[in-house]
Amino acid sequence: MQVAAGAGGRAGRDNITPVRSTPSASPLVAMIGGGQLARMTHQAAIALGQTLRVLAVSPDESAAQVTPDVVIGAHTDLDALRRAAAGADALTFDHEHVPTELLEKLVAEGVTVHPPPQALVHAQDKLVMRRRLAELGAPVPAFAEAVEIADVDAFAARVDGPIVVKTARGGYDGKGVTLARDLAEARDAVGRYLADGVQVLLEERVAMRRELAALVARSPFGQGAAWPVVQTVQRDGICVEVLAPAPALDADLAREAAHLGLRVADDLGVVGVLAVELFETLDGAIVVNELAMRPHNSGHWTMDGARTSQFEQHLRAVLDFPLGDTAPIAPVTVMANVLGAAQQPAMSMDERMHHLFGRMPEAKVHLYGKGERAGRKLGHVNMLGHPHGSIDDETYVANVRERAVRAAHWLSHGEWTDGWDGGH
Ligand SMILES: Nc1ncnc2c1ncn2[C@@H]1O[C@H](COP(=O)(O)OP(=O)(O)O)[C@@H](O)[C@H]1O
Ligand SMILES: [Mg+2]
Repeated sequence: MQVAAGAGGRAGRDNITPVRSTPSASPLVAMIGGGQLARMTHQAAIALGQTLRVLAVSPDESAAQVTPDVVIGAHTDLDALRRAAAGADALTFDHEHVPTELLEKLVAEGVTVHPPPQALVHAQDKLVMRRRLAELGAPVPAFAEAVEIADVDAFAARVDGPIVVKTARGGYDGKGVTLARDLAEARDAVGRYLADGVQVLLEERVAMRRELAALVARSPFGQGAAWPVVQTVQRDGICVEVLAPAPALDADLAREAAHLGLRVADDLGVVGVLAVELFETLDGAIVVNELAMRPHNSGHWTMDGARTSQFEQHLRAVLDFPLGDTAPIAPVTVMANVLGAAQQPAMSMDERMHHLFGRMPEAKVHLYGKGERAGRKLGHVNMLGHPHGSIDDETYVANVRERAVRAAHWLSHGEWTDGWDGGH
């Protein structure tokens, strides 16, 4: 923290003049991006006596709806970034799309950027990330840059199996990722991406048992904290479910994944939350898919299922506070995303929620204040297992999972997956 208010506030018991007598004396974090991650970070800021300032593109964005301190502007506009940063103790992110050059200018002007641009680039550019992790000895799939279509053939000969084509930058929720069925489709994808003028990455398609995520946080002081490693379930490139902790995960592999997360955070100098998306291979190893340096979909379960949520932890980390306890509250917590249905239900969301609460009082709902559109992330539901269950009990886990999915599906579609008719 750069300001005297922080240090003085702690040491100031004997002072006659209270150092934090005005609200503005509490630490101020500015977050670039006004999406749901900023909205939920603001929620955590309130409990800490803070207000999150957000840079949003428009006043109706998720986070702009709820925080009084909104700067309207684009994350690619240096002046807007400067306005967001003015007087903030730390500048951080709800997405990773701010150009490195702009962040470096802010740093040169004295802004505390967390995570710093030289760390963040590993969450922005999959090619930079792959090269650096390979250098660090972290497990990664075979990869290569494609600068021309013919590179596909050379790479295919090397990996002898299906290929994934990705844009190095700008992808999210599966956009900019092609799981090619054959060489022709891989060549075609490379051609299309290159024609857009972006860098292209080829990867072996990992034969996997499932996807995992290791979520950790690191503070500038160097403290690290890891939540239990989770299983993530993706549909059409979008995370739809998270099981925390990952059921039936080998204890050694879980330790290895958590250590990997903490080590990557240290080696790259990450400040804040780091999500390491992982694949568990068929032969029982882990490889890194990609990195995110912000609160992440794989950590939404922590809002209700862990002693410290990822949003609070992110604030603590970027303000260099001691980190919070990451212990889970229940033997299993399942998060299910509420995605916009293809056909918006006739019943309003408000009414759907009313029915949900009537039937499932244990469902913890988080809505993002977004309009309903097909496939859009509108919110999520967290469901905690009862305290006496065990993550090793398949029936228990399946029951919690079924309830989380049933609740989220109801909010999306206005239909009960088990055919319940409301008791009529
Ligand atoms: N090398 C790979 N092998 C197998 N599946 C992959 C590979 N890379 C990506 N995928 C699948 O595509 C999804 C999206 O890829 P990812 O690189 O994480 O893109 P995004 O930036 O959209 O999250 C992954 O979650 C995984 O399901
Ligand atoms: Mg991903």
